[in-house]
Amino acid sequence: MKIGAPYTPRLPAREGDRDASRAPPPAAVLIAPGVIHFPGFLDRLAQETLRDEVLAILVEAPPFRPRMPRTGKPFSVQMSNCGPLGWVSDEAGYRYQPAHPETGRPWPAMPLSLIAAWGRIAPSAPPPEACLINLYDASARMGLHQDRDEEDFAAPVVSLSLGDTALFRVGGLQRSAPTRSFRLASGDAMALSGEGRLAFHGVDRIYAGSSTLLGQGGRINLTLRRVTRAKL
Ligand code: SIN
Ligand code: FE2
Repeated sequence: MKIGAPYTPRLPAREGDRDASRAPPPAAVLIAPGVIHFPGFLDRLAQETLRDEVLAILVEAPPFRPRMPRTGKPFSVQMSNCGPLGWVSDEAGYRYQPAHPETGRPWPAMPLSLIAAWGRIAPSAPPPEACLINLYDASARMGLHQDRDEEDFAAPVVSLSLGDTALFRVGGLQRSAPTRSFRLASGDAMALSGEGRLAFHGVDRIYAGSSTLLGQGGRINLTLRRVTRAKL
């Protein structure tokens, strides 16, 4: 398979899910082994609907600013979550927990639109348990890291982007491996799966003013993950 060439993922239809099996597979580009970019995965109307769902979630589960383990250095990104589990970080470490770190309330439910997006991209994976909501202003960044706080790595990580375009960087399984960069625009999806599941990745910059979706500007990234091992 040629890197950068249009890529048709083999998406096994879920048994009994006749609609999903009839829908055409989303357009996809293979960025690196197991790293798949789905440009224009959500059309404008779907982006507006998802934006409104996320804004409602943020009223119930207000953005918090995570801190680095040990040092307590604040992230430049603010976060919230929806779904049964949410990812948090502070001096005590990275972890998933069922409640908001500041309000103590359970995370709001995951909108059906997100579960449907997961079903299109990862039809054979068990349902997602966590949706991390990353909120970027024009100066926010996300350093190179691996997503490895889950119990196992069989299911992909699926991300959806809304608002301003981000310059996304992805590398290999070692921090020192060569990286490549590409842009994630509003409505794009991305998956880290199989041999790309533990690829180092991060966000180097946000292109302020590149989207009209969010009134205040900025970028929202939604990262869907399976956290616990699926029960057989
Ligand atoms: C993340 O890796 O948690 C966020 C990636 C992104 O914002 O696109
Ligand atoms: Fe990540």
